[in-house]
Amino acid sequence: MDFYDVIQTAGTGRYYKEDPIPDDVLARVLNAARWAPQGGNRQPNRYVVVRDAAKKKALRDLYFPFWRDYLAAAGIGGIQIRGNEVPKLLKDADIFADNLDKVPVIVVVCALMEAIHPTDLELERDPVVYGASIYPAVQNLLLAARAEGLGATMTTLLCHSEPQVKELLSIPDGYATAAHVALGYLSVPFPTKLTRLPLSEVVFADEFGKPMYE
Ligand SMILES: Cc1cc2nc3c(=O)[nH]c(=O)nc-3n(C[C@H](O)[C@H](O)[C@H](O)COP(=O)(O)O)c2cc1C
Repeated sequence: MDFYDVIQTAGTGRYYKEDPIPDDVLARVLNAARWAPQGGNRQPNRYVVVRDAAKKKALRDLYFPFWRDYLAAAGIGGIQIRGNEVPKLLKDADIFADNLDKVPVIVVVCALMEAIHPTDLELERDPVVYGASIYPAVQNLLLAARAEGLGATMTTLLCHSEPQVKELLSIPDGYATAAHVALGYLSVPFPTKLTRLPLSEVVFADEFGKPMYE
């Protein structure tokens, strides 16, 4: 697949087949994550590939209440969701949440916190730089999945349940759970193009707010 086609069609998967992912395909997707940049080449990420049915069910059962709270908050405007088709997006995500245990693979992304050097801790806002050493690898994984013809769903809601997830998967002290990525073949077509803000709204020339492109 053309690189830019991969990027523009790597949408969030909501409807999965239960067919297993061949080992070689899964290995290529996980391998892609390895090549991502991270601060000081300290490589903080580890990946727990959950295929065990009982463990996936436990993850689904931990995820679902947080999803329903999120759905309720979205319904009353407490959480903003952007787009023309928000009711459909929420319905699709609700079905995804309910069936999370049936997705063939859930990759739990773990990050060794002491290997991350955040450079914005002294600022008077929440830090964001921690994530900079974690999420480029997740994006590599998502794009590799798309290139392999696999659907993928990045989630972070289950991070609320980090203690339970760590116990379930024997994740050692010092590691945070940073994302849970569902992977599998989709039972619906990939999107032809994702919905994102135009370049004119997000890229500025020399000063913030001065559009660089029409
Ligand atoms: C940081 C992050 C966290 C997300 N967490 C969740 C989640 O917990 N549950 C979920 O269903 N989708 C989650 N998503 C998927 C987004 O809802 C999705 O990317 C967004 O609606 C745009 O959809 P699209 O990528 O298909 O265009 C997350 C995405 C990101 C980048």
